[in-house]
Amino acid sequence: TGCFTYDAGFTATASCKSAITYIDGDAGVLLYRGYPIDQLAEKSSFLEVAYLLINGELPDQKQFAAFSHDVTHHTMMHEALKSFLNGFRHDAHPMAMLCGSVASLSAFYHDTLDLNDPEQRRMAAVRLIAKIPTIAAAAYRYSIGWPIRYPRNNLDYVSRFLHMMFEVPSEPLELNPVVAKALDLLFILHADHEQNASTSTVRLVGSTGANPYACVSAGIAALWGPAHGGANEAVLKMLEEIGTPDKVESAIARAKDKESGFRLMGFGHRVYKNFDPRAKIIREMTHKVLGELGVDDPLLEVAMKLEEAALKDDYFVQRKLYPNVDFYSGIIYKALKIPTEMFTVMFAIGRTAGWVAHWLEQQTDPEAKIGRPRQIYTGADTRDYVAIDRR
Ligand code: CMC
Repeated sequence: TGCFTYDAGFTATASCKSAITYIDGDAGVLLYRGYPIDQLAEKSSFLEVAYLLINGELPDQKQFAAFSHDVTHHTMMHEALKSFLNGFRHDAHPMAMLCGSVASLSAFYHDTLDLNDPEQRRMAAVRLIAKIPTIAAAAYRYSIGWPIRYPRNNLDYVSRFLHMMFEVPSEPLELNPVVAKALDLLFILHADHEQNASTSTVRLVGSTGANPYACVSAGIAALWGPAHGGANEAVLKMLEEIGTPDKVESAIARAKDKESGFRLMGFGHRVYKNFDPRAKIIREMTHKVLGELGVDDPLLEVAMKLEEAALKDDYFVQRKLYPNVDFYSGIIYKALKIPTEMFTVMFAIGRTAGWVAHWLEQQTDPEAKIGRPRQIYTGADTRDYVAIDRR
């Protein structure tokens, strides 16, 4: 009983007011704090974008130096967290390890965290942005049986992460600037996307006054699903399964057949009924990065053929299904030698900036309330309990 609006999947419900990110899904527009995503992708850096999302304005040089210093000096993870990682099975998925390890940070920073203190809230955000790459790389190295590397704080954010991922003792890692630049750009594109499932999760958990590390861990869990961030891993697996351009038509036919249970991964979006502006940038970038790295990946041809065929097909045209951010990102990650099971982890590193920006915004929102949706009850009417021997 009661008078509620039924809105399964929240297709028409605004859960909060936010000044962080603007999307016009019909026009294919994405702005972070008013700045178009293509300008940020071309001119900014991930750390600058993280500052922008959190603080609302681009930093001046002094502000950027201070933010960068803070992030750099919180990159270490507590040594005891290693024991936590060591408890996972050798074949644990890095997303499971990331989710668990980030949640465990709430135990390291709990009693001392006063959420009423703006400086402590800011530090929680800084710590999350700083430690996520360290934990992500450690999870990856554990999954392949390599000893973890400590963060090298003389490097920038992305290069430091690449070192922690790939460096082996006594062999200095020759970092290709093309790789570092491409990864930085991918982090920018993934940094925020207003009330997507994972950010809404962070806000829902945050609305109860929960510890911010636990909130972000919940966001990571939501991101992992194939309908959300898990799609980038699923896209690559799908392209590998399709294998060659001549199999594209049958894949399209299968995606159109509702009985098949198969969807074209990396296609469609709740908000974009036009090209996802991030997909446009990534598409261009894929050709550039593969060219610069001299990588000739036959999966790119499969992806291009698939995109072309879907964009011409009535089924996809009528439903306004376009490639989304995850469609091409996997091909770039693969060219950068990021293993497939780390793709969604990459997304999580970038999105952490958005998650903490939303969490911080919520903490000072005078209209924020505990998130508590209602339901339409469809169960049994009142009835009397029957003893087990009489059922
Ligand atoms: N392949 C085939 N059919 C599709 C697809 C697809 N990828 N996406 C949607 N449809 C169909 C769907 O079956 C439905 O058809 P009908 O109207 O005949 O019932 C119609 O299009 C509308 O789809 P919906 O499921 O009602 O739309 P939604 O807004 O609930 O879902 C989505 C959005 C992204 C979950 C969905 O498009 C999808 O599952 N895509 C594949 C997974 C994917 O790429 N996810 C990444 C999303 S973008 C980045 C991110 O969040 O990580």
